[in-house]
Amino acid sequence: MSSAPPRILRPRDGTRLTRRALLAGIPALGLGSVALAGCTGSEAATAAENILSISLNQTETHPSYLALTFFGEKLVESTEGRWGARIYANEALGAQQEVVQLVSDGSVDIAVISAPQVENLSRAFRPLNLPGAFRDIDHQMAVLNEDSLVGELFSSLEPSHRLRVLGGFTQGARHVYTDRGPIEGPDDLAGLRIRVQESDVFMELTRALGGSPTPMAYGEVYTALQAGVLNGAENNEVSYVTQRHYEIAPYFTLTNHLVGLDYVMANVDRIHGMDPADQEAFATSFTAAQEEFVRLWEEETASSIAQMEDAGVTITDPDDDAFAPLVLEAGRSFLDSAEDEALYEAIRAVETNSAAASDGGEG
Ligand code: GCU
Repeated sequence: MSSAPPRILRPRDGTRLTRRALLAGIPALGLGSVALAGCTGSEAATAAENILSISLNQTETHPSYLALTFFGEKLVESTEGRWGARIYANEALGAQQEVVQLVSDGSVDIAVISAPQVENLSRAFRPLNLPGAFRDIDHQMAVLNEDSLVGELFSSLEPSHRLRVLGGFTQGARHVYTDRGPIEGPDDLAGLRIRVQESDVFMELTRALGGSPTPMAYGEVYTALQAGVLNGAENNEVSYVTQRHYEIAPYFTLTNHLVGLDYVMANVDRIHGMDPADQEAFATSFTAAQEEFVRLWEEETASSIAQMEDAGVTITDPDDDAFAPLVLEAGRSFLDSAEDEALYEAIRAVETNSAAASDGGEG
């Protein structure tokens, strides 16, 4: 890490922490073998002999937090207390762009990193990040489980960055929301500053949607909306509600522009430091957590929509051809090699039971 003064982090719960202080505290958290008797699953996970630090930019009510808690519980149980996990939510260890470096250098063990940030490390991931790659959540999960398609890609960052992709958590369909509306087509977004993830693809997709893209870290969006620096952003219903963006940008437009993906990434040396049986338990626990995530996601998406309705959010469902074809075309223009094109098409060709009913929606 640099010697610059540490950035002051203000998690949503109001505590005041420095990232340096948190990182310095991480190894100490795993010290000693605390008696596990009487602990709940989550307490046991944070009282194990070895604790894996997990960085997340979501709140403690988000499905990612809940699925990772489940992962920690499975891990501590299946390794008989040798390994557990502690989750640092709300960007407490930093925004994704910084945290991916911390996992790479081994300061943090595991992190949930949105696809565009991974693409910024390696262009080889791009075909999975474009509109039209995934039809819905079932299709996305089928692709993630297709080792012949993604196996090599997921281990490709090990030699260069010491990063292993363990798998993914869906982001569901992403949509645009704004402080004014209703938004029926690209003309209605003209001149509106829409926050995007830091990625050239997302900048372009937002232009195709009609808006003016403003790249920014996730944790800064609420304040920027409040200050009027932004007119809106794009995300799924769960983030819209857990980040409380609906309070300031109450027009939610079902643009369905992309089924997004979060990668769960680990420092590979940390995993190699586990004995083989524990590595096996780690892998099994992660697979179980990934399945649990899908269940939680569906539940939370439905509950978020209900909360949006209760809060009086205006939900607009524009014509299917108002946004989708423009975004699809903009995305395809980034397929600039035969390999990228082949991977994109191979992903699209993966069949699922829901294929016939696909609409790029919520799976
Ligand atoms: C979703 C996703 C996050 C991502 C965020 C964003 O919430 O799950 O990983 O950081 O979108 O728009 O930045």
